[in-house]
This record gives sequence, structure tokens and C-alpha cells, in this order.
Amino acid sequence: MQLQVVKDYDALSKKAAHILASQIILKPKSILGLATGSTPIGTYRELINMHKEGMINFSEVVTFNLDEYYGLDVQDQQSYHYFMNQHFFNDIDIVKENIYIPNGKAVDVDAECQRYEKSIKEAGGIDLQLLGIGQNGHIGFNEPDVKFEASTHLVNLDLDTIKANARFFDSIDEVPDQAISMGVKTILSSKKILLLASGKNKAEAIYKMVKGKITPKLPASVLQLHPDVVVIADEAAAALL
Ligand code: F6R
Repeated sequence: MQLQVVKDYDALSKKAAHILASQIILKPKSILGLATGSTPIGTYRELINMHKEGMINFSEVVTFNLDEYYGLDVQDQQSYHYFMNQHFFNDIDIVKENIYIPNGKAVDVDAECQRYEKSIKEAGGIDLQLLGIGQNGHIGFNEPDVKFEASTHLVNLDLDTIKANARFFDSIDEVPDQAISMGVKTILSSKKILLLASGKNKAEAIYKMVKGKITPKLPASVLQLHPDVVVIADEAAAALL
């Protein structure tokens, strides 16, 4: 695990965007794994700027998002489909057919999870997976548990996660309590992983991820097993290291 500590959120966003941009320049047909949440918003903004300046294009890029709330329609303003369009896809030249996000309205969830895994494999596997980290150490929506869940699956969200994500909703009651998420094996199968963490509320999770033992109680700790992980943390998130 390679740790890069930067001053603040702006520096983090620029560094992350540079890593993603170089991936796309080196391999225009890159398969990217993408995340939602507050942390990557600045990275997406930087990538949009680079695209507008003509530095990078996404015409051949394929993307797979980590997760989607279960029960939310793609049009729902709280869905991760909507989030990705708003913060990224609407402003780049990605081909709609190359965008994959789990279907939160799937009637047969197991079939949807299997379909998602199959699509990733058929695309050739993820070249670079972008991750955030939950305050409880979750990656994707792999919540602290007694075992690592391997592949894409339906998750019951932790109360901590529901509380943390309530800021995006009008009230906590509106936060879905389930999501479809890539599993730990799906994430570990990516060729490269880039994890971003900003702010002091992530410091404890970052400390445990880097220095703690590998345990499903702190899902991000499993990244210690991956040969090519870059962690970009701002000073606040790296404060306990
Ligand atoms: C989002 C995701 C989550 C977030 C995490 C951090 O697709 O999978 O693991 O990365 O909850 O969220 P923020 O960035 O909002 O602190």
C-alpha cells in the first residue's frame, strides 16, 4: 500500500485526477471502477476540466460503479445513477452504453448481482478502481461484518452509514437501508486501486486500514493484501498515522 499525504481536499482531487488521467491516456479503452459520495466530487471536477481543455477523452472508457441504493429508480435524485450523471457523466464524452451501475430496482436481486459480475468479467476486469472509505472502514458498501462478502451482493446498511449519508437526503428516514454493492473479491480483482480520504472524520478508519490487522470488522483493511494500492489522504485524514 503506497500512501501519499497531501495538504488538503483540493490537492487530493488534483492528484487523484492526474492518476486517473494518466490511466486513460496510457489506455484509452480503460475499464474504470468509480465511487460516489463527497470525496470523489473534486476529482470528477478536475477530470471534467481536463476533458474540456482537450487533455483527455472518455470516448472508449468503460465504467462500473461500486454500488447503488436498493429501491431507488435511476431517475431518483438520490440515486447513484443520478449522482454520477450530475457530477461526471453529463460533462464528459463517455458513451452511455459503456456506463454500468447496479440496478437498484431489480426485481431479482441475485440475478442482477450475477449479471453485474459477468459484465465486469466480460469487459476484461477493472483496470483502476477508485474508492472512498466510510468512517466505519467500509469500501463500496461492504460494511463491518464477521466475514468478507466476495462478490456483488445486497447489503443491509449500517446505522452509521445511514446517519453519515443522511446529509444527502431531506431526512434520515428517506435514506434507503439496503444497497447493491460490489464485494471485496470484486474490488480486490481490480488491477490497481486508488483510495481517497479527506477530513478528520476519516482519520481513525485510515489508521486502522494502514496499521491495523486485516479483519472484516474494518473492511478496508483487506486492501493490505492487494499488490497495487495507492492511498491519497489529506493531512486531516492522515493525522493518526
Ligand atoms: C460510494 C461508496 C462509499 C463511499 C464512502 C465514503 O460509492 O462506495 O464507500 O466511498 O461512504 O463516502 P464520502 O466520500 O461521502 O465520505
